[in-house]
Amino acid sequence: MDINSVGIVGSGTMGLGMAQTMAQHGVNVTLVKATPGSTDKAQATLKKSLERAVSKGALREEELEGVLGRVAFTDQLDPLADCSLIVESIIEDLETKQDLFRKLCKIVPAETILATNTSTLSVTALMSVCEARARVAGLHFFNPVPLMSLAEVIHAFETSDVVVTALVNFCRRIGKEPVVVQDTTGFIVNRLLTPYILNAIRLLEQGTGTIGDIDKAMRLGASHPMGPFALADYIGLDVVNAMAQNIYEDVRQQYTATPHTLTRLVLLGYLGRKTGKGFYDYTQQPAIPNPDLARPVA
Ligand SMILES: NC(=O)c1ccc[n+]([C@@H]2O[C@H](COP(=O)([O-])OP(=O)(O)OC[C@H]3O[C@@H](n4cnc5c(N)ncnc54)[C@H](O)[C@@H]3O)[C@@H](O)[C@H]2O)c1
Repeated sequence: MDINSVGIVGSGTMGLGMAQTMAQHGVNVTLVKATPGSTDKAQATLKKSLERAVSKGALREEELEGVLGRVAFTDQLDPLADCSLIVESIIEDLETKQDLFRKLCKIVPAETILATNTSTLSVTALMSVCEARARVAGLHFFNPVPLMSLAEVIHAFETSDVVVTALVNFCRRIGKEPVVVQDTTGFIVNRLLTPYILNAIRLLEQGTGTIGDIDKAMRLGASHPMGPFALADYIGLDVVNAMAQNIYEDVRQQYTATPHTLTRLVLLGYLGRKTGKGFYDYTQQPAIPNPDLARPVA
């Protein structure tokens, strides 16, 4: 089963990262902006990211235009009809993703692989709304996609082995190291990482340490490249919140419940780096711990 052209639905952080990675490895990509509006911003963000790759020596300058030329931007689903693989990467909401899968099933042939980049939703629940279910799987990348080498290939309830093998081979072709995971909420990485971030927030709420010290402790004491608060801001607090809720929904254990602080930040729209504020305030140079989180939690 060859994967020659790929459709990506969702042009946010992950959609753009996947498009860049695939295009840098010679794959033609159709990137669909899933919400109304111009694709100009997404195109400009991709160009900027490629220019950064050139300045860091990760991409040769003469290759930049070729990579850009391999990504076609659209706000329509119809151009995906000819793709051999479609990866959705829209908002982490089951009904919205199911609705998208229903639409995709009407547009693409039964042999097109339909994959989701969901962090914690059930791939089987997405499969349930599809015809030809054996072609539905998870393909979970990590942020930032061009730099993170892992991809989780998720084997959902009726996914065929042929599809899993095709995705494993595709991951290797685009420079990723795949692991095959059975469909479990959070798969491997987020199932372990989400409770870790939630526990760090609880330590903060209990006054065990400051944001800066908890981050520093995990960087220097556990050799993590970034501490849990910097990581949560990097992932996006709405995404962390959705992951926590989905894992809690599944396991119903207190250690997976969403702490107040996370709920409040998300309610106020402080989603981390992408909004300029979360556990840190990125409007300051260098970023400082969010001063509103210095007081004890009521
Ligand atoms: N951020 C991460 O670290 C990370 C890592 C792996 C997987 N994921 C998963 O990737 C997916 C996308 O996450 P992201 O970080 O790129 O988020 P993002 O906020 O950067 O992008 C989300 C995209 O969804 C679109 N969108 C918003 N509301 C929509 C709606 N109602 N209908 C259709 N599309 C809508 C937006 O236009 C945007 O393109 C999610 O399923 C997330 O769980 C995220």
